[in-house]
Amino acid sequence: MPVTTVATIAALRARLDAERAAGRTVGFVPTMGYLHAGHASLMAAAREETDVVVTSIFVNPLQFAPTEDLAAYPRDRAGDTGLAESEGVDLLFVPSVVEMYPDGPVLTTVSVAEVAAPLEGRTRPAHFAGVATVVAKLFAIVGPCRAYFGEKDFQQVAVVRRMVRDLSIPVDVVACPTHRDPDGLALSSRNAYLTPDERVAAPVVHATLQAGRMAIDAGERDPAKVRALMADLLAAEPLAELDYAEVVDAATLQVVDPLRGELRLLAAVRFGQARLIDNLAARA
Ligand code: PAJ
Repeated sequence: MPVTTVATIAALRARLDAERAAGRTVGFVPTMGYLHAGHASLMAAAREETDVVVTSIFVNPLQFAPTEDLAAYPRDRAGDTGLAESEGVDLLFVPSVVEMYPDGPVLTTVSVAEVAAPLEGRTRPAHFAGVATVVAKLFAIVGPCRAYFGEKDFQQVAVVRRMVRDLSIPVDVVACPTHRDPDGLALSSRNAYLTPDERVAAPVVHATLQAGRMAIDAGERDPAKVRALMADLLAAEPLAELDYAEVVDAATLQVVDPLRGELRLLAAVRFGQARLIDNLAARA
């Protein structure tokens, strides 16, 4: 079945309301496009678990700071449509900025305190309010559904889960594992910014997180030591510029000292024009 492209909120709502009225479940995969195998794995999970699969493609201006890569963000509508079709997506929702924000800058925003504050929130202070606002809006448009997110953006999943709970939004949030290239690099639309040399160096991010996990597995319980170990490994790669490499409680995303329970190692590293993030589970 060819994928049906829908550009307006009214048309998507009408279609999904009719599907639910007929007893069918809806699976939703929100994206910013330039789709790759990581996105495809979310679509495959939605295809398996729900009756009607909708993917949105919307490069959301709200989640980019003025200094960030909104204008340069890679786009490929034809490639995206082909990938969605091959994953069995039924509906591709591709609203324009005017369709989503007809009155210009929104006056209403959703911000999630605490979970959004550390890590990405420290470097990108307005980012998660932009994400939470557009995801809340997309959930209001799509309606009751199962929504699929990647653990690749671990803090984003935590923010969305907390928003859904706090605001009683009728959406089940499903987190899917990170899809990687064979050398360990997590797939990301932003990998398109890497030069060939940077691409060769980039797997150091995953290797660093693994080294941090190995230290914890070997009994290290001092988060500062794990942080320092990871910072040293990244400092040894001349093309990598560390933003943060942290180990935090997996549920609260706050530092826990000494390390105990379910943990998450997270890193953000710049390679030239690209800012890459990745994370890994650990347990102490
Ligand atoms: P985007 O970066 O396009 O990612 C869309 C979804 O794909 C997110 O849930 C992300 O975690 C997931 N994803 C990306 N790379 C992945 C990988 N290698 N393995 C598994 N999943 C991966 O995240 C966003 O868009 C936006 O912030 C959005 C939620 C759409 C709101 O604008």
